[in-house]
Amino acid sequence: MKGVILAGGTGTRLYPLTRLINKHLLPVGKHPMIVYGIDRLRQAGIEDILIVMGKHSAGLYTEYLGGGADLGVRLTYRIQEQAGGIAEALDLAKSFILPGEKFVVLLGDNLFSDDLKPYVDRYVQQPAGTARVLLKEVDDARRYGVPVFDVNHPERISYIEEKPSQPKTSYCVTGIYMYDDHVFNLIDGITPSARGELEITDVNNHYASAGGLEYDILQKYWSDAGTFESLQEAAVRMKGQLP
Ligand code: G1P
Repeated sequence: MKGVILAGGTGTRLYPLTRLINKHLLPVGKHPMIVYGIDRLRQAGIEDILIVMGKHSAGLYTEYLGGGADLGVRLTYRIQEQAGGIAEALDLAKSFILPGEKFVVLLGDNLFSDDLKPYVDRYVQQPAGTARVLLKEVDDARRYGVPVFDVNHPERISYIEEKPSQPKTSYCVTGIYMYDDHVFNLIDGITPSARGELEITDVNNHYASAGGLEYDILQKYWSDAGTFESLQEAAVRMKGQLP
């Protein structure tokens, strides 16, 4: 099992800091944000990790993380030339994933405390060509992708609505996804959304409509640390998770 961390994007909600440095390198307590995701993967036994980053700060990633040996992992890097959405960034992992191989995708700004291992183990049991996403119960689901569950198959999601004004459930789809190489066929088939991006929710909805999207619900702390408020809270909540 491999891991892919998507760490591009412009981080406009964190201007002016992100004009200087990419969002995923900003400090969360003692460490740059991206180190927490790398450590969650390593802790689940995933040591082969691809980091997809933008051109901005690319040299700093390699300078700080190197080949990953200090963190107990092996790192590979790819550059996303311009921001074109999560699914477009994910497509850069195509040559990193072997035919039939399963892998975990993290959005680099998703900080969380759950152990991924039990969720990964359940995904390993799923048939080829299906996917698994991790959900979290949130106060205001309108900012996120929101799952609607399949009444006939409670272990499945029947569809996801991206940033609905009236969410049908109180869960959000976090930026923690599990796929196999079939995902690259689906990415090839989607077209840019109204905001001009290849949306991960469109990819996930292909799985959902084929009955192949299952989920787990995170039990502990989770945040997508994209604002100054959430970044500050994350520093407090993640304290002690890494030495
Ligand atoms: C993205 C996804 C959304 C998901 C969120 C989690 O949104 O499109 O479905 O809930 O990440 O972090 P973005 O933050 O890119 O708007």
